[in-house]
Amino acid sequence: MKPGYSLMKHYLQFKDLRAEEYAYLFERTRIIKTRFKNYEKYQPLVDRTLAMIFEKASTRTRVSFEAGMYQMGGSVVHLTTGDSQLGRAEPIEDSARVISRMVDIVMIRTFEQAKIERFAAHSRVPVINGLTNEFHPCQILADIFTYIEHRGSIAGKVVAWVGDGNNMANTWLQAAEILGFTVHVSTPSGYGVDPQLAGIRDSGCYKVFTDPREACRGAHLVTTDVWTSMGYEAENEARRSAFADWCVDAGMMAAAQPDALFMHCLPAHRGEEVAADVIDGPQSVVWDEAENRMHVQKALMEYLLLGRIG
Ligand code: CP
Ligand code: NVA
Repeated sequence: MKPGYSLMKHYLQFKDLRAEEYAYLFERTRIIKTRFKNYEKYQPLVDRTLAMIFEKASTRTRVSFEAGMYQMGGSVVHLTTGDSQLGRAEPIEDSARVISRMVDIVMIRTFEQAKIERFAAHSRVPVINGLTNEFHPCQILADIFTYIEHRGSIAGKVVAWVGDGNNMANTWLQAAEILGFTVHVSTPSGYGVDPQLAGIRDSGCYKVFTDPREACRGAHLVTTDVWTSMGYEAENEARRSAFADWCVDAGMMAAAQPDALFMHCLPAHRGEEVAADVIDGPQSVVWDEAENRMHVQKALMEYLLLGRIG
């Protein structure tokens, strides 16, 4: 940690930060993104190293963290289960003790949330969740920043979640509770959200709809995700039939607010969870959303390593 800066924070779930910390992060993201777009050098993390540990595949998470860390003057070490001792049963606790003596911050993409929590409990440096079975907080950070860029504050708005009650859905619920908006959740039977698993205190931040079009009615943002998340591939066939009616199409977008946005964390499957004319249509902001992963994560790493600037 930076000398004199002793308050170590991890980012393992969205609820690890408070509303006022999010307000700060969104403002820092705006500043950091603008500087970057103007080719202004900003390198507060020279000599600092990010270790990225991937136990699942990734395109956006890897590129956004790696490019973002280099842009801030730091460097990156990339580890996977297959090319490290993590895949040969070295205890997570020992891996955390060793890795965190050599690097300044760690990002992990893995299966059970319990694994990242065990790592964090034995880490000397901040740990960031780059996706677990239960949560994907960096993605929701980017999604909300993207909403703010396009439409202003998300407080009081309605977000329609159409699809699986998965890591993204759980994280949306945590965000709704902290930032004061409502999630309309529509999932096939048997794939719903569980408030206990999502880690929310107040079930008032979401409403459940059996009909996905009803969930979209009046929504300011419509969002979805793959029918089968990483790690659940054995359920693929069962999910393809269960989710057949949970495809965000033009009819669902028409039920939402006329200026509603469409988001998808990507990768997307056109013709499954989203129709091509929606994801490639004028209400879709998926490319801004993907790009913003890098900008929000730069602000997040700056905050976790250096605290508030200025
Ligand atoms: N949205 C997201 O996390 O993408 P990757 O799986 O490509 O990292
Ligand atoms: N819910 C998806 C998100 C991928 C970025 C998964 O976990 O595979």
